[in-house]
Amino acid sequence: MPGPFYITTPIYYVNARPHLGHAYTTIIADVASRFNEMRKKDVFFLTGTDEHGDKVVRAAKKENLSSRSYVDKISALFQNLWPELNIKYNYFVRTTDPSHIAVVEQILQKIYDSGDIYFSEYEGLYCFGCERFYTQRELVDGKCPDHETAPEVIKESNYFFKMSKYQDWLINHIKKNPDFIRPQRYKNEVLSFLKEPLEDLCISRPKTRLKWGITLPFDKDYVTYVWFDALLNYVSALGYPDDDRFKKFWPVAQHIVAKDILKPHGIYWPIMLKAAGIDTYKHLNVHGYWNVDQSKMSKSLGNVVEPLQLKGIYGLDQFRFFLLKDMTFGLDSSFSEETFVQRINSDLANDLGNLFSRILSMAHKYFKGVVPETDPQAEEELKPGLEPNALTAVEDFEKEMETFAFHKALEAVWVFIGSMNKYIDVTAPWVLAKKKSAKKQLQTIIYNLLEGLRIISGLIYPVMPDTALLMQKHLGMDVSEPFFTLDRLYTWKRLEPGTKLLKSITLFPRIDLKKIKAEIKREAEADDRVFEIKPEITFEELAKIDFKVGTVIHAERIPKAKKLLKLEVDIGEKRIIVAGISESYSPDDLTGKQVLIAANLKPAKIMGVLSNGMLLAAVDDKGCSIATFDKKMKPGTSVR
Ligand code: MSP
Repeated sequence: MPGPFYITTPIYYVNARPHLGHAYTTIIADVASRFNEMRKKDVFFLTGTDEHGDKVVRAAKKENLSSRSYVDKISALFQNLWPELNIKYNYFVRTTDPSHIAVVEQILQKIYDSGDIYFSEYEGLYCFGCERFYTQRELVDGKCPDHETAPEVIKESNYFFKMSKYQDWLINHIKKNPDFIRPQRYKNEVLSFLKEPLEDLCISRPKTRLKWGITLPFDKDYVTYVWFDALLNYVSALGYPDDDRFKKFWPVAQHIVAKDILKPHGIYWPIMLKAAGIDTYKHLNVHGYWNVDQSKMSKSLGNVVEPLQLKGIYGLDQFRFFLLKDMTFGLDSSFSEETFVQRINSDLANDLGNLFSRILSMAHKYFKGVVPETDPQAEEELKPGLEPNALTAVEDFEKEMETFAFHKALEAVWVFIGSMNKYIDVTAPWVLAKKKSAKKQLQTIIYNLLEGLRIISGLIYPVMPDTALLMQKHLGMDVSEPFFTLDRLYTWKRLEPGTKLLKSITLFPRIDLKKIKAEIKREAEADDRVFEIKPEITFEELAKIDFKVGTVIHAERIPKAKKLLKLEVDIGEKRIIVAGISESYSPDDLTGKQVLIAANLKPAKIMGVLSNGMLLAAVDDKGCSIATFDKKMKPGTSVR
């Protein structure tokens, strides 16, 4: 089914570091992309960062950075994280990109020229956290539902976008296209919101209040509202209006968002597109929220573990699998490490991992690790065999993946895994192996099982790409070829008899949660030691220590001393200083380095060498790191 496929994630605010929620959305976009590659679609996967607005300015101030360097820093965190999660996006858009800004200006001007933007004075309830005005009925107990703070009354002249004009059009469009917003519960939510008259949207902020934004092309005293800027990323990244990319991908655009931003995507965005004369997107796919109970996590582990770190502890494919299997698309889910581990042990280690190693071991034991031939007569006798189950699995998988029902798609694969395990139990190859007369049956059974593994490796590819490749490598397949296309999974008997198999391996080690918890606790305790603080001292007491910049002139080991180095240091005068750092530094590492010296410490003899001063270093149980300076300083300069 060739053709284009365009998928987007929200562009994430740079006022927070990436966390589990961002990872989830971006991983499902990756899974959807890989699945569509399997269908031979031409895929364009867009993600990025939302970098303008009040929140960003405040976050930058907090870190003592300019808005520009702050957005560069946090955007890079997002850009660098995605490859670590095996996410292959095609383009990363930033709202500070000049090409994006140009499109925002162009569309604002277009809508302004058509008369759908007007200037008016407005007094309303403004939430600074959300950067928007609220109507009374949107508030909960008089407070912003997101920030739980009372909004402030603000009176301002601003530009407004005539959303109300398009309300009936939008209602009709949603009704005529039942899967425009999916799952259905979110379509209903939008329709129910649209039962009340829509208010026009304030789309400007005076520069007296906010400068960090895109200037309105028709009034230089205002910047545009972040949402009006951000939503347009979905077309600016494609090179709207003239680029071929835009012409090719926009007609099939699909967005993924969580329920928190349903309203801007389900209401503002289609209306903005309509007003700008652009066809609206095809689907808005809305998922629920991951609730992470940090307090529970910290209790069970003796340490707060970031969900993203869990990937490091338990494995990336395991992490991706868990996120997709444990959330029913559209509904909320609670993240629990216990459930995560259970899933790894049952679905991955027990079901899939065991099946894989069991079949490979049998193929090695009975056929010297070579894919056997099937026998037509044995095939007849063994009917229906695994082929019909495989076909059902691929069909169900495709159907569910298409509508983002990832958990159901994985369920279909696991039903097939179950039928493979049952097939082994029923055919009992180890019994047949003892009978010479059953050789052809045994060949056919092992072939079918290996072929079943090939199908499974293809079906898990979008969710667990590394494991899929590993399985295929062990099945003797050439992994440089695109083996994962769906048409190859729809046809049975593609494994070549005679192919050499690799030795069996453990795909997913079983996890002993208790052991891991103990390890994390140990690390946490080691960390805690770092935070021990000595009793308070006065400034005068501190000032008694004469800290100086020193340059190491020469360093050598002290014979028979395991940890000590003898350093000759220039601190304005030459000093001999003994330092216990030789397990972390060799003499060559140190020559020329600038170090921090406590210069008026009473000299002491250490291993026969008189040490006249002390070098400062951070020390933990893994070794030490010496204190240095990030600019070259004159030796002997005082440190205060
Ligand atoms: N910048 C806007 C989006 C503009 S798109 C034109 C924004 N950014 S955000 O950083 O707050 O990201 C919100 C999105 O992050 C959610 O819609 C969802 O995709 C993801 N998630 C953030 N927290 C989440 C959970 N706890 N659970 C699941 N996903 C959530 O809104």
